[in-house]
Amino acid sequence: MPLLLPTPENIAQLASLLRAGEVAALPTETVYGLAADATNASAVLKIYAAKGRPRFNPLIVHVADSATAQYYGQFNQYAQALAQAFWPGPLTLVVPYKQTENTIPDVVRAGLPSLALRVPAHPLMQAVLQQAGVPLAAPSANKSGHVSATQAAHVLADFGDALPVLEGGPCRLGLESTIIDCTTAQPTLLRAGALTTIDIENVLGLAITNNAQLAHNNAPKAPGMLLQHYAPRARVRLNATHLNAGEALLAFGPTTLQATLMANLSPTADTTEAALNLFAMLRELDSANPSAIAVMPIPTAGLGEAIADRLARAAAG
Ligand code: TXA
Ligand code: MG
Repeated sequence: MPLLLPTPENIAQLASLLRAGEVAALPTETVYGLAADATNASAVLKIYAAKGRPRFNPLIVHVADSATAQYYGQFNQYAQALAQAFWPGPLTLVVPYKQTENTIPDVVRAGLPSLALRVPAHPLMQAVLQQAGVPLAAPSANKSGHVSATQAAHVLADFGDALPVLEGGPCRLGLESTIIDCTTAQPTLLRAGALTTIDIENVLGLAITNNAQLAHNNAPKAPGMLLQHYAPRARVRLNATHLNAGEALLAFGPTTLQATLMANLSPTADTTEAALNLFAMLRELDSANPSAIAVMPIPTAGLGEAIADRLARAAAG
């Protein structure tokens, strides 16, 4: 420890640590998660403490399969269709919590009557879930408000040796799951993410409204949609078409702009590639202490919607 290679022995050891109420960082296909047994309130409190996360911001509960998810949550026809189409994968469903089960403590849900559930696709996360045999609450494995972690090294940069980290290489998608609220008659979008709105609408056969922008820093309705989030230490300047002295450049697509410190999210202007690189490049540029990070305009189609959301919150700092 703290960095564990993904051997069968280490996976078994992590599963028993989690069962014993400890916290560990695990790779998922979206971002690394900071996991604890979701049925154990004192284990979950360790996540909030380690991240410095406000207690009003509830956690996503990860389970191995859709049947387990439906044991904890009430799925309407839309939730069932989405689970069927996209699980395992980068989709989180917010559904009414089955209070009668009484196994997921209030602290996981920040006292809400709903529960956020996800079946992750990453084989290492799946292996740990199956061996631990308990649902795992797991927010992104970064300090609260900071840029999300898409590599084990990012987790170590935020937490040092404080907790075990399972090495899973760079995350395949690099952007958090899309969150859909299925507690109301019509599903709504709570957080744009690695699954595009269009793909979701195609399965539902209806348009979904975006509720993400309703939220602000103390919004109780969608508690996690904090305005200021995903923030590097450096100021972030959006839609940059020129560079100021001392600024680092986060480019997108072909460009003639030049900076001593620069990274290109996607030289070919592909938003899927840009999503994959976003958090890693923000961290990389930030580590050189620029006066600001200037970000070129990025189209909002496809994954551009989620990228725009993250960058707007990063710039709100
Ligand atoms: O891809 C992901 O979703 C990653 C990986 C680790 O699975 N997890 C993640 O967790 O992004 P986190 O904690 O960084 O973001 C979870 C979001 C927060 O904005 C939180 O407010 C929201 O989910 N959330 C959780 N439970 C909710 C609920 N019952 N109602 C509304 N929003 C909820
Ligand atoms: Mg997060």
